[in-house]
This record gives sequence, C-alpha cells and structure tokens, in this order.
Amino acid sequence: MKDHIIIAIDGPAGSGKSTIARNIAQIMNLLYIDTGAMYRAITYCVLLQKIDVHNKKKVNDLLLNIQLILKKNEQNSIDIYLNNHRLTGELRGHEVEKNVSLISSYKKVREYLVQKQRTLSQDYDVILDGRDIGTVVFPNTKYKFYLDASAEERARRRFHDKKAEKGLSIGEIKDEIIRRDEFDKNREISPLKKAEDAVYLDTTQMNIEEVSQFILEKIRKLS
Ligand code: DC
Repeated sequence: MKDHIIIAIDGPAGSGKSTIARNIAQIMNLLYIDTGAMYRAITYCVLLQKIDVHNKKKVNDLLLNIQLILKKNEQNSIDIYLNNHRLTGELRGHEVEKNVSLISSYKKVREYLVQKQRTLSQDYDVILDGRDIGTVVFPNTKYKFYLDASAEERARRRFHDKKAEKGLSIGEIKDEIIRRDEFDKNREISPLKKAEDAVYLDTTQMNIEEVSQFILEKIRKLS
C-alpha cells in the first residue's frame, strides 16, 4: 500500500505558513489542515463559556463536554464545528488572539487536538501548518519545513491579511506576535522549534510564489 504524503510546515505567527500551505495543497492536490485554527476554536469556546483562561482544570473539563467536529470541505481544507455551529470569523477576534497561546500550552488541550490531527490525516495526502507538526505530531515524515521572517515583516503581512482582525496598528500587531512567539517558544510542552531535520527558510525577502517554488522543489528532491 502506498504511504500517504504528510507535509509539515511550522514557524512563528505571520511567517506565511497558511498562505504557503494552502497554495501547495492546491498545486499538489492535498488536504490542507490549519492546526492553529483548532487551538483557536478551543480558546473561543473557553471564552464563550466564560471560563477563567488560567483555570487549567476547568479548561480540561470543558474538553470532556464539547463536540468539536472537523470536516473536510469542497475546497480541500477543514471546517471546524463547535457543538454543531461552524466557526469562521470568531476564530480571528482579539480575545482569541490574546489568549490562544496560553490555552494551547495546556497538555490536555494539546493531546486532544494532536489526536484529532493524526486521525484526520489517516485517509488523505495532507499538508499541515502549526508549531509542533514536524517535532511532535508527525516526527517521522520526511517533508518538514520551518518558515521564518523578521518580526517587522510578519507584522506587515498580518496587517494586510484580509482575515486578520482590523483596528490595530502595525506596531501593535508586532508587539502581539512577539509576545505570542515568546510564549509559544518557551512553553514546557511541544514548544515552537525547528525539527532537527526540517528545512529552514527565512522568507523575509521572498514572495509567495518564490517560497512555494522553493518548497515544491525540495519536495520533488525528497520524493
Ligand atoms: O497559527 P495560528 O496563529 O493560528 O496559531 C494560534 C496559536 O495556536 C499559536 O499562538 C500557538 C498555537 N498553536 C500551537 O500551539 N500548535 C499548533 N500546531 C498550532 C498553533
């Protein structure tokens, strides 16, 4: 039986992971899995239920009582349903953005979502973007990439991102992503880091086309 293709794209906020992953998914006909959206969905649910984000026990208990369904859609990506309601713009709000790093540092939250990510990937050729895909979720895949860019450039990209929250200046966005990266890199469980065998790419001076071509070329060589 032919093994499924699994491509891992990790990196800090605004490094272009989701744009690139979507692009490559389309070119290679892969299922695109945005794992950050899943951590955002749990965070949204915690906030909706007015649970104190610092109360790990309550957050853990919540996981036992929610129905988080991940469904492949026609565009070859994943729709997220929380208790039968499809989440879209809610995941990009300021409160979610502010609290998602903390919620994603909880062990039970990670276990809950990593299991879903692995299950989802069983039946398809996939490309996933996140923080721990190459290190924890799929450490054995041979296709691993770590995208990076300067904080200034990442803030600029977020500012121009149509999906991102409006009303913040580039400076405020930059402060927020630096804060989030520090937290994600220094947490105890599955911190953001490059897998030893991942290909590192600084995309500060590159456009989407150039990054996609670079990655496609590497994938070809590794195949
Ligand atoms: O990629 P994003 O900005 O949507 O991710 C939101 C947060 O979720 C990020 O700050 C850290 C967390 N995250 C994670 O811990 N592990 C992943 N695989 C994906 C995201």
